Amino acid sequence: MGAGGRDQWQSSIGFILATVGSAIGLGNIWRFPTVVAQSGGGAFVIVFLAAVLLVGIPAMIAELALGRQGRGGVVVTFQRIASKGPWRQAGKILLLVGFVMASYYGVIASWTLIYTVQGALGGLTGLDAVQLNIMFDSLVGNPVLAFLALAAFLGLVGLIVGGGVGGGIERASIILMPTVMILLLALFIRTMFLPGAWEGVLWFLRPDFSVMTPANVLGALGQVFFSFSLGMGAILTYGSYLSERENIPRAALWISGADVVVALLAGLTVIPALFAFNLDPQVGAGLVFVALPGIFNTMPLAGLWMTLFFALLAFAALTSAVSMLEVVTAYLIDKRRWPRRRATLTATAAAFAAGLPITLSQGNLNALRIGGVDLLTAVDFFASNLLLPVGGLVTVLFVGWVWGAHRAADEVTRGAVTFPSAPAWSFTVRYVLPAILIYVLVTGLTG
Ligand code: PHE
Repeated sequence: MGAGGRDQWQSSIGFILATVGSAIGLGNIWRFPTVVAQSGGGAFVIVFLAAVLLVGIPAMIAELALGRQGRGGVVVTFQRIASKGPWRQAGKILLLVGFVMASYYGVIASWTLIYTVQGALGGLTGLDAVQLNIMFDSLVGNPVLAFLALAAFLGLVGLIVGGGVGGGIERASIILMPTVMILLLALFIRTMFLPGAWEGVLWFLRPDFSVMTPANVLGALGQVFFSFSLGMGAILTYGSYLSERENIPRAALWISGADVVVALLAGLTVIPALFAFNLDPQVGAGLVFVALPGIFNTMPLAGLWMTLFFALLAFAALTSAVSMLEVVTAYLIDKRRWPRRRATLTATAAAFAAGLPITLSQGNLNALRIGGVDLLTAVDFFASNLLLPVGGLVTVLFVGWVWGAHRAADEVTRGAVTFPSAPAWSFTVRYVLPAILIYVLVTGLTG
């Protein structure tokens, strides 16, 4: 606990690992290789890296600074800083985004748990692509299994969040994040020894800008937001537990660096594996659950590699889901003055209630359609094309114009931190980020 009884990170490295834990998740290991494969390879990677520098890092600095200044969950922070008017309530938008994200992210994450167990029991070993496809539908479409997996996953998330900022989130991240990195490195090295893998490496690295469309640029921007956990108050909330001495720009560089390295490593593992086995990189979202087990099946010790891979995904997803649930939990603690235990239980139960129909939409509730697609597809579209950009826009407009970029820059430099790029950063927060986010929002919604 820090001054005033509010939680604080216990160490600088603990804070960095927890925030890295939020950033590294399904977005890096499942979503990034998939979008790279669908968007033409190397050129997309370069646009993604440019978006990291231009959009991701400045926006992360903004969220961390806003959180540290506000010293509260999303709702309290906006109310403390805006003295009057509708901006006082804008934090509620972030709360909503955090809640929706927690419930739908939990669904996909719970599948990684199913697959870890299934892999360990040998239930995926020896199956070909067709059988794996049938297996996927029957596993995620099984209502009892879906129910249990979601309960187990959110239960783990709740346990960590309930343990508090230092004792739960920080401690779990210090164990889980290095584990994730070691597992990924092992898989990467294994893949590099597959015959034909280097073709995939070259495809991943060789930029062919003729395949870059405006839609792909948009995809890269969205990917940065998703991967950096921006636009839903998770980074803001983690910033609210920061000490005044923490160097925010330096932390942002470390966090984004780690996130990018893991995304690249995941891309360099998954895509060469596809090439080595002559699979079309365009396989789409089934990539992780269908294509990869097929690849592992052609290796010696298939069951082991498979189990390690899904455990890696589950751990990475766990620390990300923790940061989503913490947005809701911190709101209940800071605004409603609830004890952490009660706040965590309520947030977990609510995420479970919202996640249940989403996970059942892959089985019994499949007939329930929104705009012609099932519930999971609809929420996925709604969250990444509408909610995250709106949340991001609200945050950067607030920092740039309501709180004020110069005051925000003062907050960043508190504790005798030098911030040589403050003028460029202020300009980016006031003009560049809002313009880009409005563009993302308008194009994302109008198609
Ligand atoms: N960054 C996480 C990932 O890459 C997802 C996430 C988004 C987490 C928003 C928290 C907030 O999987």
